[in-house]
Amino acid sequence: MVEHSRSYVSADYLIMAGRLFEGIKQRSYELLGDLGAASVLDIGCGAGLDTVSMGLQAGERGRVWGIDLDAEMVALAQRRTRELGLAQRVRHRVADACDLPFGDAQFDAVRSERLLMHLPDPTAALAEAVRVTRPQGRLVMIDTDWGSLSTATAEVEIERCLARFRAEKIFPNGYSGRRLYGLMAAAGLQGIVLEPVAIHLTDLALWRFITRADDVERFALERRVLSREALQRWRAALEDASEKKAFFGSVTVVIAAAQRQSVSVS
Ligand SMILES: C[S@@+](CC[C@H](N)C(=O)[O-])C[C@H]1O[C@@H](n2cnc3c(N)ncnc32)[C@H](O)[C@@H]1O
Repeated sequence: MVEHSRSYVSADYLIMAGRLFEGIKQRSYELLGDLGAASVLDIGCGAGLDTVSMGLQAGERGRVWGIDLDAEMVALAQRRTRELGLAQRVRHRVADACDLPFGDAQFDAVRSERLLMHLPDPTAALAEAVRVTRPQGRLVMIDTDWGSLSTATAEVEIERCLARFRAEKIFPNGYSGRRLYGLMAAAGLQGIVLEPVAIHLTDLALWRFITRADDVERFALERRVLSREALQRWRAALEDASEKKAFFGSVTVVIAAAQRQSVSVS
């Protein structure tokens, strides 16, 4: 059974992760098309890093909406928007990705980043995203393939065991990155473009923070997926690699962009 609440993160985490994801974020805005006068929705907007960035890139006629299930995130996003004087063109509200409070075909472009990994039913969320996108509008989704998390260590068995535990038990949909293409194709989206990006870190402390290694290891211990002795060996091996300046960890993040079908004329 997956522990849903265990996969959620704080605003501080999102801000730190946002620095690592800067290139990916910028690329996603490009793939959304011209933001100048477009209406754009960011689903699972978190603290509003992307709604604010897109609001800054939009022109006077551009409109950006962000929704998130977490009311604290939405309040923070709204505050950032007000402080930057963007309230006219950027708005946020609390909503569920699987039940969007918007009409059909309302947006020119729809985006989500690291959302689907948290959802037990990503197909329902994508159907909602497609519904609110206008025909020929753009959809851009970014998700991590947690199964690809790879760490240089001699403790390969523990490393593989933890990577699999994370992908299958920490996240409701931990393989979401590798599944984006199939999901979009099944939803009838057209012109799917895939851009997998490998993010890597050589700083062990930052890697532990970004991958929430303490939490994952604690849950693995609680679930008896890992013994205390194995966990000590694992941590010692990582520390040793770090001291020798040999620590390396990477994970694949997939950017998938596509277009909603035009309305068929019979
Ligand atoms: C990893 S964060 C990413 C946030 C943001 N996209 C970013 O890149 O900074 C995932 C976000 O999805 C939100 N979320 C999770 N389940 C959701 C749902 N069913 N509907 C809307 N948002 C959801 C969480 O509250 C969280 O803010």
